[in-house]
Amino acid sequence: MSSYAILGATGNVGSSLLQLLSKNSTNEIHVFVRSRSKLFNLLPAVKDQSNVIVYEGQIQDVDLIAKCIHNTKAVFQATALSENVPGCSIATDTIKVVVEALRILRSQDDKEKLPKLVVLSSASVTDKFWKGVPRFVHRTIYNANCYIYDDLREAEKYLRDQQDWIAATFMKPGGLVSDVERGHELSLDECHTFMSFLDLAAAMIEVADTGDDRWDMKDVSLVPQTVGARFEYMAPYVLGKGLVACFFPQLYMSLRAWIP
Ligand SMILES: NC(=O)c1ccc[n+]([C@@H]2O[C@H](COP(=O)([O-])OP(=O)(O)OC[C@H]3O[C@@H](n4cnc5c(N)ncnc54)[C@H](OP(=O)(O)O)[C@@H]3O)[C@@H](O)[C@H]2O)c1
Repeated sequence: MSSYAILGATGNVGSSLLQLLSKNSTNEIHVFVRSRSKLFNLLPAVKDQSNVIVYEGQIQDVDLIAKCIHNTKAVFQATALSENVPGCSIATDTIKVVVEALRILRSQDDKEKLPKLVVLSSASVTDKFWKGVPRFVHRTIYNANCYIYDDLREAEKYLRDQQDWIAATFMKPGGLVSDVERGHELSLDECHTFMSFLDLAAAMIEVADTGDDRWDMKDVSLVPQTVGARFEYMAPYVLGKGLVACFFPQLYMSLRAWIP
């Protein structure tokens, strides 16, 4: 039996992880969510699965997160914002709580094998995945998600500073879209736009299940095995909205309630 924890199981990535992991009834899956009812509306089958244990609460609750990740072999960090909101800090806030929770577990039992962390990030925060792409294209995409990416970079820096006692892998996909699982390969050099959330989830599980330390502290992306996912037609709109937020944050915040 393998145990995993998913933080942010109501999101696109988190719910894809839960869908894939819960196919195997021998897996024990601990999920952290802010709303149990939201999770059960999204994935009704999960409600009756005794191998899925739900921890409902706030991400700042270190004791709850410590219980959620205790005795797991891997923690999938998938709390996130998918909108470029000024001041976004969800990735860093979550990582700091997870590190604190790991400290608590270590202090309770210094022999306990700590879980490895598989952290959702983005190809956009790492230059090596942009080889051959004009710099202004990378800059534009970065700016359209600047607050999200600055937060991801800070979270990564914080975690890399703990590498003497924590093992983590930074998952850095290209563009993602809701689509079926089509097959992936892990890559340390290339990313691909678009991949499905399910393919990313499968890639994260592959990293978690790798028995050795080959992915520890690495930036890992994924490429399609055969053909990539469908095009996301909303991408140009989301890009435009993110650029407004980046360059006109006050205007964006004052209009946010009316922007679809
Ligand atoms: N979309 C892409 O093309 C793409 C490409 C590469 C990387 N990424 C990365 O993927 C991330 C977005 O992932 P996603 O699509 O899975 O996001 P999502 O669907 O918006 O899910 C976000 C998850 O985080 C939780 N969450 C948000 N704020 C929280 C808070 N304050 N406390 C606790 N939980 C909180 C949400 O819970 P609730 O349900 O309770 O709100 C939800 O479970 C971004 O960081 C982005 O950089 C995206």
